[in-house]
Amino acid sequence: MTKAATGPVLLFHLLPLLLLHASPVRPAPYYGQLAENSPAGTPVEGVLLSVGAGGCPGADLNASLMGEYASDFRIIHHHGDRHHRGHLALVSAKALDREFIAIYELTVELPPRCLRRPAAVQVEVSDRNDNAPRFTCGNQTVEADELTLLGTELARFDAKDGDAEMNGRVTFFASPESHLLHVVPQTGHVRLIGSLLGVSLVTLRLYARDGGDVALVGEPVFLRVNVHRSSSALRRRRPRALTEELTYTVTVPDHVRVGDLVFTVPDQKFEQRWFEVISEADSPVQIERDSGRLYLARGLPEPTEVLVKIHNPRGKKSRFCYVRA
Ligand SMILES: *[C@@H]1O[C@H](CO)[C@@H](O)[C@H](O)[C@H]1NC(C)=O
Ligand SMILES: *[C@@H]1O[C@H](CO)[C@@H](O)[C@H](O)[C@H]1NC(C)=O
Repeated sequence: MTKAATGPVLLFHLLPLLLLHASPVRPAPYYGQLAENSPAGTPVEGVLLSVGAGGCPGADLNASLMGEYASDFRIIHHHGDRHHRGHLALVSAKALDREFIAIYELTVELPPRCLRRPAAVQVEVSDRNDNAPRFTCGNQTVEADELTLLGTELARFDAKDGDAEMNGRVTFFASPESHLLHVVPQTGHVRLIGSLLGVSLVTLRLYARDGGDVALVGEPVFLRVNVHRSSSALRRRRPRALTEELTYTVTVPDHVRVGDLVFTVPDQKFEQRWFEVISEADSPVQIERDSGRLYLARGLPEPTEVLVKIHNPRGKKSRFCYVRA
């Protein structure tokens, strides 16, 4: 054989292929829906195939259904009202799980006397809220300094829910609620909202809940916060000479500017008292003499201790305010 013979031979083989593709048999499209977990035999909503008044006698309806997992369905003669006589219906052969298959692509092929061309049927399994959220990680233990700033994120939790849309939208909460830790519902972040001074251990039980009409709540996980004593200067310099001392810890959030109110020294006992800041000259706060309101006088780059004296006619009472940035 010579090389020149190859060309004509190839052409000869291509011709029938091209002819086949020139006249494709377009299946008629159908679209149907079925709620997941419906019992076997539930009709797929929206799918009725017309086969003419005589039905389709002698045809093997079971064999007419093709496609991946086609055995999850059956084709039956429609037994509905007169109007729909001569129609075939698609029904489920078992309870379907949307989390396993959400969309089926099926084809129904019957002898041309019944169905002129094949029918392409897409069945969407609609969601039911049948999955509770599950945390992706288990219990967590974190370490925290007792002077940890309020607002600090201590931990983060995530959970997955197999359902769709709102049925799969997860929010987080703690139960019982804690006055020290806040769980951000949308994100699962856990933030400090109370002082850890004097606390050695905080535990929190967290749950994840989905957004279904009847919401499902998954198994809880636990957050354990081990609190350590601080080595900060704050604890060392406490004067002892004063008999009546009180300590307030004030956390100044980031957004507070110079001139803003940061704290009011809570002393309502004496009618004629007045307040004085007696710490170092460049005190980070100024106090309003009569009201005890503390205003920020300069930025607070680090935790600061401020001594406030409360004067009253019957003697001297002193208070300490620990103002922390
Ligand atoms: C079609 O399937 C149904 C249910 O599986 C069965 O009862 C019936 O006998 C089948 N029909 C044929 C013709 O195979
Ligand atoms: C999580 O902590 C709780 C309470 O301490 C405990 O009962 C549970 O078994 C822990 N779970 C895991 C997976 O360790």
